[in-house]
Amino acid sequence: MSAAESYVTADGRTIGATVMEMRNITLRFGGVVAIKDISFDIREGEIRAIIGPNGAGKSSMLNVINGFYHPQEGEIWFKGEKRAPMRPHEIAHQGIARTFQNIALFKGMSTLDNIMTGRFTHMKSNLLMQAFWKGPAEREEVENREIAEKIIDFLEIQHIRKTPVGRLPYGLQKRVELGRALAAEPRLLLLDEPMAGMNVEEKEDMSRFILDVNDEFGTTIALIEHDMGVVMDISDRVVVMDYGRKIGDGTPDEVRNNQDVIDAYLGVPHD
Ligand SMILES: Nc1ncnc2c1ncn2[C@@H]1O[C@H](COP(=O)(O)OP(=O)(O)O)[C@@H](O)[C@H]1O
Ligand SMILES: [Mg+2]
Repeated sequence: MSAAESYVTADGRTIGATVMEMRNITLRFGGVVAIKDISFDIREGEIRAIIGPNGAGKSSMLNVINGFYHPQEGEIWFKGEKRAPMRPHEIAHQGIARTFQNIALFKGMSTLDNIMTGRFTHMKSNLLMQAFWKGPAEREEVENREIAEKIIDFLEIQHIRKTPVGRLPYGLQKRVELGRALAAEPRLLLLDEPMAGMNVEEKEDMSRFILDVNDEFGTTIALIEHDMGVVMDISDRVVVMDYGRKIGDGTPDEVRNNQDVIDAYLGVPHD
């Protein structure tokens, strides 16, 4: 299938053309090659999983996509244009938001205030404007608050909107972090192990929210996840990494039957 064609999935979602393309990306830290000559694409509206054993280079790949790391080799194409080296905040302005493997929230702040921090990329007025020219800044504040409240409803966390997030159980903190990322109204959402450390019920909830975000807002999602059951259930296509290399790429069924992938997961020696 050509990347320019859109298609409809078995569950009735439309997957569009390629929105992001990684071409021959290599990332080194001194002598460590975290990513070795990897290419893959992400299509509009798709849920794209990145899987692989610990140390495979998955988080590094998300860090390349959102500009935390700059690869030594390769090109990144976004919305049909080759991306110049950019800082993370510039990339956020392009509509890319993320969550982290280790939760990155302000623990002393409430759920609502944490989600409001996700609006920063959209705020036009600065502090000086707020001091001298209250009207527009206030309107903006009201609008940001409305969006944050909508996200709180969507994620079913009204009961903890005032609670400092440091007091919340881990699974709910992960949900708040998803809310913070959603507040940026991203076009591409990057999730680094959104279900790590969760029990079965929490994983089911998180899977449902990820599917709903994709379905209701049309958000394209790239996620790293270890639970193969979850990956097989919710993703359209899967990239498999091992020791910085790409060893598989395709539908869940395709990668499940890929011998290199099976070997990597069973710990069979491979070159
Ligand atoms: N900032 C960094 N400095 C040095 N080495 C790093 C850094 N980030 C990642 N690495 C190395 O890159 C490799 C891939 O790490 P990572 O991307 O975190 O893997 P994964 O998320 O698949 O577990 C590992 O060997 C790790 O130690
Ligand atoms: Mg990682």
